[in-house]
Amino acid sequence: MPVDARAHAESLLGQMRLEHKLGQMIQAERASTTPDDVARYHIGSVLSGGGSVPGANRVADWVAMNDAYWMASMREEEGRIPVPLLYAIDAIHGNTNVLGATVFPHNIGLGAARDPELIERLARLCAEEVLATGLDWTFAPTLAVVRNIKWGRTYESFSEDPAIVASYAAQYVKGLQGALDENGVIACAKHWIGDGGTTGGVDQGDTACSEEELLRIHAAPYLPALEAGVLTVMASFNSWNKEKCHASRYLLTDVLKGRLGFDGFVISDWDGVDQLDDDIATALATAINAGVDMVMVSVEWKKMLETLHRLVAEGRIPMSRIDDAVRRILEVKARAGLFERPRPAERPWANSPTFGAAAHRAIAREAVRKSLVLLKNDGSVLPVAKGARILVAGKNADNRGHQCGGFTVEWQGARSNDRIEGGTSIWEGIRAVAANAEFSEDGSAADRARHDVAIVVIGETPYAEGMGDIRHGGAVPRGSGIQTMTNLAPYGSTLVLAERHPEDLATIQRIQAQGIPVVTVLISGRPLVTNAELDASQAFVAAWLPGSEGAGVADVLFGDHEFRGTLPFTWPKTDEGEYGRVVPAFPRGFGLTLR
Ligand code: GLC
Repeated sequence: MPVDARAHAESLLGQMRLEHKLGQMIQAERASTTPDDVARYHIGSVLSGGGSVPGANRVADWVAMNDAYWMASMREEEGRIPVPLLYAIDAIHGNTNVLGATVFPHNIGLGAARDPELIERLARLCAEEVLATGLDWTFAPTLAVVRNIKWGRTYESFSEDPAIVASYAAQYVKGLQGALDENGVIACAKHWIGDGGTTGGVDQGDTACSEEELLRIHAAPYLPALEAGVLTVMASFNSWNKEKCHASRYLLTDVLKGRLGFDGFVISDWDGVDQLDDDIATALATAINAGVDMVMVSVEWKKMLETLHRLVAEGRIPMSRIDDAVRRILEVKARAGLFERPRPAERPWANSPTFGAAAHRAIAREAVRKSLVLLKNDGSVLPVAKGARILVAGKNADNRGHQCGGFTVEWQGARSNDRIEGGTSIWEGIRAVAANAEFSEDGSAADRARHDVAIVVIGETPYAEGMGDIRHGGAVPRGSGIQTMTNLAPYGSTLVLAERHPEDLATIQRIQAQGIPVVTVLISGRPLVTNAELDASQAFVAAWLPGSEGAGVADVLFGDHEFRGTLPFTWPKTDEGEYGRVVPAFPRGFGLTLR
């Protein structure tokens, strides 16, 4: 801990009244919070939930919005102590809420690339595009080690192998935070702990395992992240052996802050505190006393703040715990240089033209190339000759929204090209290099007399969190006792692609029936059971969720770059998603090359 940061925090803490302190412990969502609220209630942080955007969702709108919040937090009025606000966002594969951002592959594709140096460059470009919008903090990296690919957040995980996830953690933190000066943003390792290990892969479910397994598998990536100086950690919605992580003093304080020495602050997840008890006071006291330092609140932040005051007055939260939480928050703000920074609109990166710029897109396109995994290439149908007469088909061939996946412009992702400004769909990338390429989404234009080969892009459509789960049964409640209960319907009930998306196999077979060899490209947030599609294809490529730079797929299909990706997860032959129980069609680490 830098001495000056600690001294600064202590000095501020000594000046603060209870209202100043408790305000710092609240993170309120922008749609329910005005700059005047920030000033009046001494709010420490504001966030954008997925898809919660200002104005026309342009860079300038973001800078103006955060400038207003930050100026409110710094008002020097009677009864106020200026403390710079922290604005946070889920920039988890680029600053992708914002129109025109560079969208790089989701973590599962980066796990296939096996390239820690690339990770640091991607995190760096992400930091620059977050800074361009005037923000200070991103809820990344996700360090989940997913053990059941039926989880809707599998794509946010680098791998089922904790060693692969751990190999990226420090690079990601360093790429984001840098030297903790005006060129860096605050990182957040999430979600502590065991988010990827729930039974059945159910989102926000229960992770049933020994402490040895929890630490060996799920905590392993946090060690390099902590070593790299990550400043915040997000508590996880899941429970461990039936105890909610948000309520676990053992996990949040004894292990994370005590044994592992984490000296930043812990933030709760979205209304995660409310889930602890129907009585919000009991829920809040439990979470804060367990070690949550800042409470993320979607709507009812005033009620949460009032409850905090009541709990302190009643002695249900000791002042020592409040002071510890606020000290941690102030120290993070000091270590991140926030007290020395000018207002967001006057910062060096504000409105930077590097946002979505070609140089950033080139790095994202490199990541796309390195993420592709070649599972089959019969008769060396790949690489495709650029002069060949190519039929391009499939619902995901010309849809930049689909190739980006969740947490892109909208929480649940975008569904069309026009929502993803800049970049290229996979079809646009092919068309740019192959003069004789033709597009027919369902393949009905297939004609052996006119086409030498087909490239069919299939797979999943965007989802996020529980809405990406594969499970039987209907929606499950989430959210809290005081918030509107939001039920999340799962994505489907099977990993078998031909059952969830029969239109894909139909397209492949329609073309194959013409005697045209098929190269299938799968867009998905996880491995899937694709036996039928594999059998019907001469070549098969796992492309994951490549993001805005779909042209990176063409770079490899035409042989300008070699395949180098290898599977970060076991690829299943049957509808069993549980790690260790999956009958592999292909093992983790599998990946062919052209030569
Ligand atoms: C979500 C996610 C978390 C995200 C947060 C803010 O529910 O669990 O990963 O950072 O809310 O959007």
